Amino acid sequence: MIECKSVRQIERMREAGKIVAGALHLAKELAEIGITTKFLEKELDRYVQSHQGRAIFKGYRGYPSSICASINEEVVHGIPGPRELCEGDILSVDIGVEYKKYMADAAVTINIGRISPAAENILSVCEEALNQAIRTVRSGIKLSSLAGCVQRYVEANGYSVIRDYTGHGIGRDMHEDPQVPNYVSDSLLARDVMLLAGTTLAIEPMICEGSAETEVLDNKWTVVTKDRRLSAHFEHTVVVTDTGCEVLTRE
Ligand code: MF3
Ligand code: CO
Repeated sequence: MIECKSVRQIERMREAGKIVAGALHLAKELAEIGITTKFLEKELDRYVQSHQGRAIFKGYRGYPSSICASINEEVVHGIPGPRELCEGDILSVDIGVEYKKYMADAAVTINIGRISPAAENILSVCEEALNQAIRTVRSGIKLSSLAGCVQRYVEANGYSVIRDYTGHGIGRDMHEDPQVPNYVSDSLLARDVMLLAGTTLAIEPMICEGSAETEVLDNKWTVVTKDRRLSAHFEHTVVVTDTGCEVLTRE
């Protein structure tokens, strides 16, 4: 069942979204050559707490950390640790926050120093794929139209859409109905739904060079591309409106 949020619920999510946006802004400022992803986690967690929020990934199904920090071929769910960022890396930072019982979730992929043209390109294609999705969403469109819009843009630019992980509804829980895939499939068409005003979604294209096949590392969390080629991830939490959508996690 897809819940349509009330004005009051959306207001809470807007507050959660502001904290997420501030945390990702801080991530962009801090993510530099030589810093560790663990340091980044500590600073972001402190930011969230100082704004009366709670980082929601920690403890979710046993996930050990307040953020996900995924480097280069890591797609999602990278666990922060002692690894130092190097010039040329691309770092995806993903964070979810609860504020007064409501949640917001967003991610951004950040360049570390000067990066290769290939890395620049995958970042801009992934960010634009999310922007295309945001421009497409409004009350009355189907979930498959949203998925198709992301898939077309990504594939037209020579990248693959990750299929093993999707976006999701969000609100009182981090993962609510509906699942929000970034590609069209028979199973999506079979359960296709119309989006209505008040629906709150985390839209999160994950894209990669080469094959979309992924695998999970021995730490049981970190998802990497099987061929170890680059991957990028951008995410915003939005609320569907009659004329479009409001992005709740934008700075
Ligand atoms: N943005 C991801 C998601 O919505 C992050 C989840 S990380 C987890 O699924 F650790 F909490 F699973
Ligand atoms: Co998410």
